[in-house]
Amino acid sequence: MDRIVVTGGKRLQGTVHISGAKNAVLPIMAATLLADGTYNLDNVPVLKDVKTMASLLDSIGSDVQFENHSLLIKTGSSHNFEAPYDLVKTMRASIYVLGPLVSRFGYGKVSLPGGCAWGPRPVNLHIEGLKKLGAKVEIQNGYIVAKAKRLKGAKITLDIPSVGATGNILMAAVLAKGTTLIENAAKEPEITSLEMFLKKMGAEINGIGTERLEIEGVETLEAVDEAIISDRIESGTFLIAGHITGGDIRLEKTQPLFLSSIINKLRDTGAEIEEGPDWIHIKSNEQIHPIDVTTAVYPGFPTDMQAQWMVLMSIANGSSIITDNIFEDRFTHVAELKRLGANITLDHNVAVVKGVQYLSGAPVMSTDLRASASLILAGLIAKGKTHISRVYHIDRGYERIEEKLKLLGAEIYRDQEQLIV
Ligand code: UD1
Repeated sequence: MDRIVVTGGKRLQGTVHISGAKNAVLPIMAATLLADGTYNLDNVPVLKDVKTMASLLDSIGSDVQFENHSLLIKTGSSHNFEAPYDLVKTMRASIYVLGPLVSRFGYGKVSLPGGCAWGPRPVNLHIEGLKKLGAKVEIQNGYIVAKAKRLKGAKITLDIPSVGATGNILMAAVLAKGTTLIENAAKEPEITSLEMFLKKMGAEINGIGTERLEIEGVETLEAVDEAIISDRIESGTFLIAGHITGGDIRLEKTQPLFLSSIINKLRDTGAEIEEGPDWIHIKSNEQIHPIDVTTAVYPGFPTDMQAQWMVLMSIANGSSIITDNIFEDRFTHVAELKRLGANITLDHNVAVVKGVQYLSGAPVMSTDLRASASLILAGLIAKGKTHISRVYHIDRGYERIEEKLKLLGAEIYRDQEQLIV
């Protein structure tokens, strides 16, 4: 298994190009099942999750080629309307094929995702939404099996503005008969980008980018091309890398508009940030002021940045409070950060972080995608060497993170873990 080794203490400087957003490309890939034809997706990040979704589409019957950040997807031979456990267990976003499959082919079978390393992640809202649209949904041997002749429009009010449920129900509704109203829909930029993609395919959607989506079902859609929006979480992670190392870095091919909550909070901590339409420049000379964050749905502070923020706060000039209201158990990184010398007290979903003078390198283990990112960030500032094992998590969501950091001056490399048997 690969591991990443970081020697802390280098000031990051230079320019980094931000990749396309994982959480935007995955639902869009699933949406290609809604119409036969050839799709060209551009600015696609080279990530494990994208390859997993490509394998899933391939097993359903699509022809998928992935080269130079472009995905060429040819649909038209779909015959196997299933997402097996082996794929779903490595990538929860596999559930995005359920809506398109049942809507287009009248049948979809997707393994129940189960929990994450950091707790349960239910899909009840996806299932309830599909049922409201008229699908017959059953759980059989660990699989969600959804059937319908043709879905029918309905009014669906989500209890929680879930990103996954909004995407799935939306993809089902675009081909349903009649009008669907989704209230309390997610407004995350990745969901808005899915809405725009579906509209380009011919879907009739009103309220794009809002919490109230009105969808008039159409008979057919058509294949189109799309450029994937930039990854706001990768951008946020690099901004923190620049800040904690007292660095001076410029992010290019990013969309600052999607990062307002992160940029505002970073400014509060003392970072100097300039931004243009597709770039952000961060300079950091000062001490880091302690600033509290509470995760919330967009445009609030993203749960996907909580672990990275904790690293920033671990060397702040005082104490701060970090609360995760989206996923209350998402704190597996706390124990590992403490091994590096961070002073964190966790009470349920609230972490109190007392800034320390320095962190010191140690072997740590990554437990999930964003926790891995936080450990790499911590390694950048820890004295000595930090070995981060199980980095396959990071490859799910960050493209060549160690190479990008190295170009900015970090002392970092990837090698094989030594296994003691
Ligand atoms: C969430 C994040 C998303 C992030 C992704 C990966 C939010 C709102 N969503 O999306 O930005 O990229 O994790 O880390 O921040 N829920 C239910 N029943 C359901 C679905 C969700 O109770 O059927 C609950 C979840 O437990 C959670 C909340 O709703 O507390 C938001 O979940 P949801 O947005 O669906 O999660 P993801 O789609 O995984």
